[in-house]
Amino acid sequence: MTAMHKKLYFRLRQSLASTLFLKPQPKPLVFTGEGSTVQLSKAIGRFGLGKILVVTDKPLHDLGVINPTLDALHQAGVKTAIFDGVLPDPTAQIVDSGIDRYHQEGCDSVLAFGGGSSIDAAKVIALGAANDSNAAGCMGINKCKLPAVPFFAVPTTAGTGSEATFIAVISNNETHAKDAVVDSCLIPKAAALDPEIMRGLPKHITAATGMDALTHAIESYIGRWETEDTNYYGLAACHLVFNNLAEACRNGENLQARESMALASHYGGLAITNALVGYVHAISHNLGAKYGVPHGLGNALLLPHILELLKDDATEKLADIAVYCGMGERSEGPTALTRKLIDQVWALNDEIGIPRTTDVIRTEDIEELITAALIEGGNYPSPRFITKHECREVLMAISA
Ligand SMILES: NC(=O)c1ccc[n+]([C@@H]2O[C@H](COP(=O)([O-])OP(=O)(O)OC[C@H]3O[C@@H](n4cnc5c(N)ncnc54)[C@H](O)[C@@H]3O)[C@@H](O)[C@H]2O)c1
Ligand SMILES: [Fe+2]
Repeated sequence: MTAMHKKLYFRLRQSLASTLFLKPQPKPLVFTGEGSTVQLSKAIGRFGLGKILVVTDKPLHDLGVINPTLDALHQAGVKTAIFDGVLPDPTAQIVDSGIDRYHQEGCDSVLAFGGGSSIDAAKVIALGAANDSNAAGCMGINKCKLPAVPFFAVPTTAGTGSEATFIAVISNNETHAKDAVVDSCLIPKAAALDPEIMRGLPKHITAATGMDALTHAIESYIGRWETEDTNYYGLAACHLVFNNLAEACRNGENLQARESMALASHYGGLAITNALVGYVHAISHNLGAKYGVPHGLGNALLLPHILELLKDDATEKLADIAVYCGMGERSEGPTALTRKLIDQVWALNDEIGIPRTTDVIRTEDIEELITAALIEGGNYPSPRFITKHECREVLMAISA
């Protein structure tokens, strides 16, 4: 393909895909701050619901942080059943077990209580339950006739912003390749961003998930589907992450930093739901599928490398972020500001303990990883396509 053909092909793919995504999406009603899960529980009571399926994971359930929410739901007159079978990067099989549980318990609604894995599983449980379908029947874009049953979310990590997005990422049972369910009805009716619940989130998960939020903010901001609305949320999320992530890692008890990170995560989710993501996510999803690299960690490892690669194609936008985050003055010019921003991303990674390399990537897998990442990345509105050679260089750079 000549350079001109590549450009035309790029534009065509972008405009076809954008017709599916570029429409305003609903936003959940959001309660924020300490005790906001109790406020959410009261609000759920006022919806007149009978029994809610709470979808979570076992380690989180065992920690007991969910108990005040369960008590508040009971006080609000809502019965609960718990499905705590979610594992990181949930598979269709896990979702199917959750749908079975929903029907066995005679539930009429779903509450996600957990990180992105629990929220994504809960989204598809709510959609599958409404449509008498299993997870496989929900895969793809707008595959179901009926909207999800009433669905609510309490994120317990600050990174994915899944409580704001219309996407659920579900892994294939056998290959663990990541697939997506996309539907506006996956956006919860209401959510609570409660820093109290994140107090005990371990440092390495705080760090990795926080970098997921920053990646959402930057990839949506420099991508080609950005809008005034998504730019607003993207910049706000960048500012919150640069000012609070290191402190949330240093001192997990600092609830102000925790709340700021929960907001950053939410704003990042609002930004990507219309503006989507880019090559950091395209490569990271495949590292997650093949080796189980946690989503946020994969993004954190890749983000500075992809920014180095795209810096000449997104200079003005990267400079905007640097100025907005107080890293320099406009008068310094876009190239110097872009350099400052990328250096700050490297520095933040170092400060919060993100390693620079991983030893999981096997040389014999690299070509397969490149192919899968470039296919996925080609569907995202990145500033430009990256080449096989560039993708290989990035994978080599993060390999120990
Ligand atoms: N739908 C979307 O828009 C979207 C966006 C980005 C990522 N994702 C998906 O989200 C998933 C990753 O989610 P994640 O990064 O939040 O991690 P996660 O949900 O997989 O949780 C990671 C670990 O953190 C633990 N944990 C969670 N909250 C805790 C707390 N408050 N205290 C102590 N431990 C806690 C969990 O038990 C789990 O072991 C991936 O599958 C990714 O593909 C979805
Ligand atoms: Fe992400």
